[in-house]
Amino acid sequence: MNKSLTEIKTICCIGAGYVGGPTMAVIADRCPKIQVTVVDLNESRIAAWNDQNLNNLPVYEPGLDQVVNRARGRNLHFSTEVDESIAAADMVFISVNTPTKTKGLGSGQASDLRWVEACARQVALCAQGHTIVVEKSTLPVRTAETVKAILQAAQQPQADNQPPKSFVVLSNPEFLAEGTAIKDLESPDRVLIGGEDANAIDALANIYSAWVPKEKILRTNLWSSELSKLSANAFLAQRISSINSVAALCEVTGADVNEVAKAIGTDSRIGPKFLNAGPGFGGSCFQKDILNLVYLCRYFGLPEVADYWQNVVTLNTWQQHRIARLVVKSLFGTVTGKRLALFGFAFKADTNDTREAPAIQIAKDLIEEGAQLAIHDPKVEAEQITNDLQLDASPPPDQASGPSKAALGGEGTWWPSTNISDAVRGADAVLILTEWQQFREIDWDKIAPLMRQPAWVFDARSVVDPSAVLGAGLKLWRVGDGAT
Ligand code: NAD
Ligand code: UDX
Repeated sequence: MNKSLTEIKTICCIGAGYVGGPTMAVIADRCPKIQVTVVDLNESRIAAWNDQNLNNLPVYEPGLDQVVNRARGRNLHFSTEVDESIAAADMVFISVNTPTKTKGLGSGQASDLRWVEACARQVALCAQGHTIVVEKSTLPVRTAETVKAILQAAQQPQADNQPPKSFVVLSNPEFLAEGTAIKDLESPDRVLIGGEDANAIDALANIYSAWVPKEKILRTNLWSSELSKLSANAFLAQRISSINSVAALCEVTGADVNEVAKAIGTDSRIGPKFLNAGPGFGGSCFQKDILNLVYLCRYFGLPEVADYWQNVVTLNTWQQHRIARLVVKSLFGTVTGKRLALFGFAFKADTNDTREAPAIQIAKDLIEEGAQLAIHDPKVEAEQITNDLQLDASPPPDQASGPSKAALGGEGTWWPSTNISDAVRGADAVLILTEWQQFREIDWDKIAPLMRQPAWVFDARSVVDPSAVLGAGLKLWRVGDGAT
């Protein structure tokens, strides 16, 4: 491709995960003249993307199946042939995982960039002619420097008379949220492109302009773009920690956090979104990206800034422990051997994703206290809960024979429950941790007689109708509601 050309004909996206799959599906859908190939080392993931039964796609997102159905086989392809796809591409997106490091320098905070570096090396090796390399993964500010250094080494004259290679690196972070990914991709608040090469920026902007209004396509330098993604997630998470801190204060003062959120959210400078108090934020991004920001601040000699952001995570963890503690306190100071029904395990509604879900920490705390948890989530599989709790499920207790041996010995256990009535039978409390629609619709008059009295509802998502719960003779705690 001529270096000044701004029309892209072939795209390769490395990483067929949560971001790579849906993002490329929407690009292919909106740009039928561009051939888009999404590659991954994970063969079963690629097989699932190619499955004729659209219910088997590896990512569940409302509307994704229709987008894939329109474009797949036409100009959207999923493949394990990484090298060939890179070689054929005018533009390569890097959309691989960047989790928190679990060992070595920066362990527990810094992002693990081994997969990004591996991609850069693969592109350096396999690309042909001029290639625009786009960072789609969320990356620490100045990562493009590393990517450029690896690519530049490949621009040296080729030993065996191969045609010369050249590269441009752009940053184009993704802002989609789970559960609304297709909506977010089809009508984004903005598309952010960071870079130094005007032609390359035009080339990427041209792709998005097929469906995104031009004024929503923002252009910045590379470092602003990389840092904007971390900052956006930090600001969003900060709002949640802020409202959760206010919720705790509401509970001891008689204020109601929903009323406070409405009162402050109507100030147009603050805005109404992302002010729902809850059990704390979860998901694969917020904690990881803030910890990364904290690490960067320390690295660049800004310990006060690092401490400021660290506190957003600290408060989030505190909120999870706080909820577990108040359940124990309310149940006469002990949950040992008591049955509790835990409703919702996913980190938010409309997803089966449990990464960093607040339910994990809360369930672990209660199990540590000796509770017997019946866990019910409409989308999360028992196997996933076992992995997250690092504890095998026990058989559900037999009503006739009373508490199990483990329960009498004070050992905490859990079992998966596929329906609400089974989960609450004999329970001292219901604990709602995910805002699934079905939990808003529970008939408390039917549930209350199945529970052991006095029985509680702990609503960490503020989804129940208080009068219905109280009217059924149950005690109620709602996050941030000092009135109940
Ligand atoms: P993911 O784990 O779902 O997918 C990453 C994929 O990359 C995996 O399938 C893995 O096999 C593949 N991969 C890794 N190294 C590879 C290599 N060298 N060659 C080929 N394939 C390789 O991750 P994700 O959720 O899609 O996230 C990707 C990036 O996007 C991360 O940086 C994340 O922080 C960011 N992000 C995620 C979200 C989200 O909601 N999940 C939103 C915005 C941004
Ligand atoms: C987030 C960002 O929103 C998205 O822009 C980015 O690209 C990836 O990270 P995601 O984690 O998928 O998206 O979901 P989000 O809707 O942001 O929710 C994150 C967590 O915050 C969830 O646990 C949710 O329940 C919680 N939350 C959200 C609240 O507790 N209160 C709120 O008001 C909003």
